[in-house]
Amino acid sequence: SATPKASAPHVVITAGPTREALDPVRYLSNHSSGKMGYALAAAAAAQGARVTLISGPVTLATPAGVTRIDVETAEQMHQESLQLAPKAALFIGCAAVADYRAASAAEHKLKKTDDSDTLTLTLIKNPDIIASVAALPPASRPVVVGFAAETQDVERYAADKLTRKRLDMIVANDVSQQGMGFGSDDNAALLLWRSPQGIERRMEVPQPKTQLAERVIQQALTLLPS
Ligand code: C5P
Repeated sequence: SATPKASAPHVVITAGPTREALDPVRYLSNHSSGKMGYALAAAAAAQGARVTLISGPVTLATPAGVTRIDVETAEQMHQESLQLAPKAALFIGCAAVADYRAASAAEHKLKKTDDSDTLTLTLIKNPDIIASVAALPPASRPVVVGFAAETQDVERYAADKLTRKRLDMIVANDVSQQGMGFGSDDNAALLLWRSPQGIERRMEVPQPKTQLAERVIQQALTLLPS
């Protein structure tokens, strides 16, 4: 792909799962494949943007022309995001960030004990990365696009998330539908975005994630100040 112009918008995308250590050999994570985030990065680069991907551990190849920063934990992803977002035009939070991490990761491998059949882990909340980017002061705040994976009342929960996290746009999908969302190559989505007219919406029928990514990037780029 062609090298983006110096004037090209900088797009920062988080993708994949995060991994939260419980001890030196174990972690908490989720089944995010990173496919949607990587497809967004490829689509943004193809549309001429300068793209940085902040990626959790995935097995995907870095799309051509994309700069990739590898992270493991939500805290690392948070730090890299706040480093890059203030100078970006567009920030897309596509990562499946672990909501919680171990309050303190054990220094040594946790041992099974004979005297108890239960083990209690204390978890603490991770930072909400996209909400902290959206809360940057106006002069250093990019346009912010989030994702919402829901299993019911997709539009209501997505609209609530748009408002609560102060996003400019949200891409919501129903992950209870077979063959859609986590790990799959296809996705359907409801796009909600703010406009001077209020909240606008568009349904995207089930389609390959690569194609949905192009449509999400196109819509997001219309929200950039001209
Ligand atoms: O609240 P929920 O996890 O459903 O929100 C999903 C959206 O928020 C996604 O855009 C996701 O990348 C982002 N998120 C985040 N940091 C978190 C949790 C979610 O950036 N700790």
